Amino acid sequence: MSELFLPQELIRKKRDGISLSDPEIGYMVRGITDGSLTDAQLGAFAMAIFKCGMSMDERVNLTRHMMNSGDTLNWDQLNLNGPVVDKHSTGGVGDKISLMLAPIVASCGGYVPMISGRGLGHTGGTLDKLESIPGYDATPNNSAFQSLVKQVGCAIIGQTANLAPADQRFYATRDVTATVESIDLITASILSKKLASGLDALVMDIKTGNGAFAANYKMAQELAQSIANVSSNSGVPTSCLITDMDQVLGHSVGNAIEVMECIDFLKDPHNADQRLLELTLELSAYMLQLSGLESDLDSARNKSKLALESGKAASIFGKMITELGGPVDLIEVPEKHLKPMPLVASIQSNSSGYVSEVDARAIGLSMIHLKAGRTKSSDPIDHGVGLSEIVSKGQWLDKGESLAMAHCRDQMQLDFLQSQLPKLIHFNQKKPSNTNLIKEVLTSNKGLN
Ligand code: URA
Repeated sequence: MSELFLPQELIRKKRDGISLSDPEIGYMVRGITDGSLTDAQLGAFAMAIFKCGMSMDERVNLTRHMMNSGDTLNWDQLNLNGPVVDKHSTGGVGDKISLMLAPIVASCGGYVPMISGRGLGHTGGTLDKLESIPGYDATPNNSAFQSLVKQVGCAIIGQTANLAPADQRFYATRDVTATVESIDLITASILSKKLASGLDALVMDIKTGNGAFAANYKMAQELAQSIANVSSNSGVPTSCLITDMDQVLGHSVGNAIEVMECIDFLKDPHNADQRLLELTLELSAYMLQLSGLESDLDSARNKSKLALESGKAASIFGKMITELGGPVDLIEVPEKHLKPMPLVASIQSNSSGYVSEVDARAIGLSMIHLKAGRTKSSDPIDHGVGLSEIVSKGQWLDKGESLAMAHCRDQMQLDFLQSQLPKLIHFNQKKPSNTNLIKEVLTSNKGLN
């Protein structure tokens, strides 16, 4: 049957705004995976979708074919006594939530097989943060990964070569053909990878604001609605939280520095950054409620809080690290393994007033300059450099007080941050009004179409 199709004819059809059938989409995805579609055809196909869009049926079919282009995980034979549930974030600056969230949900009876990516552009990647831990092996094979999830309750690893391979090639082409910012393609790309891990429920954290990929609110809403619809059409109940990314999440950026913040958070949640705490517990509550572990959000919130405050989540985090090859005493003595930088210095404010704006995106980009982030996926990174104790919006600062602590390898890096950071944090004499951290929640089983 597939021999009847020709790539150029299907590209033409999509280019002319005509919907592709399920077999036609299946044919194109097979061509992406086996290499029979050329790079030129793939670029043209991406642009045709970018310009003409896809119907809901097309999005669901594209997602399913991309998900089935490689391995998919099945949990039936593991006889788990709880649901398999995950969270995915569209990425933000200082977004380290997965490291605390997965152990919290595992403490409450969920199984969290979290497959994360590396950072690209101004946002950091969970995998890069974890790889700052000496010995951490983020690439176990599928069966070791599944056993670990059963044994510990959660595991955070990197994407294996055979998980949604169609997406790996498609995404690389989109990256160089100006076709990343398509709601249809982003939906299929994210969900093909997430749904391949055999989830019972999914919670999405869709960031919006100056440090987010979806900088404008309308795009975040469209993406949330699209993901909720496609995911539920594919049989996985999904809630999408649209959350604020107009400042750094938590008080640090970098890799090892963010791991340090997570360890402090798990050990001593009462002293955690309030926005980080609120969002972590809220995402956990949605994961527990959506996966059926708790019947309502309030009890799910309480259970999540208890898991954190009792130290159970910290102990599961420690277990996950050890089982994946990291140090057994990471939680007890993190500074022994996450080595401090040679130069740690305060960056002082040039003005006084209330912090009114934080350019999170530019702070993320400054991390690339220091090599804590990358511009192409093959770039090596420096896990040690970064910023801690970054001020938050609404905080009062006198001139000369600290905007952040810089953790640098040398004086040149420190000079760079000292020249840049004061330009990225703005002040006002009037206290800015509070912005909602969680702006909206779209849930697929509430009649979205
Ligand atoms: N993240 C993904 O995994 N895919 C996209 O298309 C965009 C962001």
